Amino acid sequence: MGRIKTAIAGFGFMGHTHGETVKSFPEMELTAVCDTDTAQLKDTPAGVSAFTTLDEMLKKADFNVVIISTPNPNHEEAVIKCAKAGKHIICEKPAALTVEQFDRMVNVCKENNVIFTVHQQRRFDKDFCIMKEVYSQRLLGAPYIIKSQLYGVNGNMHDWHVFPEMGGGMLYDWGVHLIDQILYMVDSKIVSLYADVRNIINEKVDDYFKILLKFTNGVLAEIELGTYYLTPKRAWFIGGDKGSAYIDGFAGEGKIVRTAHLLENVPGKITMSAAGPTRSFGPPEPGLLQYEDLPQVKVNHRNYFENFIKVLNGSGELLVKAEQVRRVLLLMDAVRKSGKTGEAVRFE
Ligand SMILES: NC(=O)c1ccc[n+]([C@@H]2O[C@H](COP(=O)([O-])OP(=O)(O)OC[C@H]3O[C@@H](n4cnc5c(N)ncnc54)[C@H](O)[C@@H]3O)[C@@H](O)[C@H]2O)c1
Repeated sequence: MGRIKTAIAGFGFMGHTHGETVKSFPEMELTAVCDTDTAQLKDTPAGVSAFTTLDEMLKKADFNVVIISTPNPNHEEAVIKCAKAGKHIICEKPAALTVEQFDRMVNVCKENNVIFTVHQQRRFDKDFCIMKEVYSQRLLGAPYIIKSQLYGVNGNMHDWHVFPEMGGGMLYDWGVHLIDQILYMVDSKIVSLYADVRNIINEKVDDYFKILLKFTNGVLAEIELGTYYLTPKRAWFIGGDKGSAYIDGFAGEGKIVRTAHLLENVPGKITMSAAGPTRSFGPPEPGLLQYEDLPQVKVNHRNYFENFIKVLNGSGELLVKAEQVRRVLLLMDAVRKSGKTGEAVRFE
């Protein structure tokens, strides 16, 4: 089987990243790129054709896979054009701005019998994969809470991310990854959600949100992101009836914590704390808390492309499926609704 001839539409930040990824896979060959901004095409690799429009690239270049990394509002048009031309597609996230747009894209891909998937490569983030192992192996007994937190210091959105009509704001940017991770981890329907969505320092687009998802299996998931927290953090916490687990940082540093004996057996000793005398929230007695290593995982973002190549070669299942992407987009609508009304929204 020959190498997979691949093109990139939108050769900006992610387009260049995808160019490097494609070059690093012996199974793939980058044959063409296109970008409406000629400045982006200046460093087109030797032997790769460069075009200023997708139409021209579709007409003249030789490829059967396209990676679409144009800004968000262009994804629908680009996917539909590429599908009609019979190209298999990896589209950047958020795949679409609305569920309606997304349905149109999926239908055209089905009609033209092309593979369509979305670049949700954060399913292979190390921190997330460790917590997914903790969750799915039930290492903490029955989990009741999952927290996923991402706090930043660079409050202002950059480039087109400041414009609502461009699909700007953090819900469309990192929100789509953080929600996708939780829905991929928790194998249950959602009963309801509550969300607080704000613009703290950005005038027109969201830069802070907290989302609470109540699942039918009893798990409550809390996703919180702020670009203007000024205390940078990427953290996870899962609490279960047999212990808890935490991670601090993308590298996945953390522990599983258990108690040597349950609370009803702990002598009801009163200890003094800065907040006064307390029994429940005093310091742990020596030996009460036991720390275990988190499971090890070997993952990286290349795994996303390995899955795509397998599917293209006729074996294996797509990791990021259209129905999963659609569920995230539907949920984001509900998040916005709750954010506007201040009320919980029933879901599924
Ligand atoms: N999966 C991830 O982790 C991740 C990370 C960053 C960005 N993204 C996504 O990738 C996409 C691109 O983001 P970016 O940060 O690379 O933006 P960018 O602005 O750096 O690049 C987009 C490029 O598309 C070009 N472009 C615009 N309209 C075009 C058109 N009609 N035809 C061809 N080219 C066109 C622009 O000139 C620009 O060079 C967005 O959807 C974004 O959400 C995903």
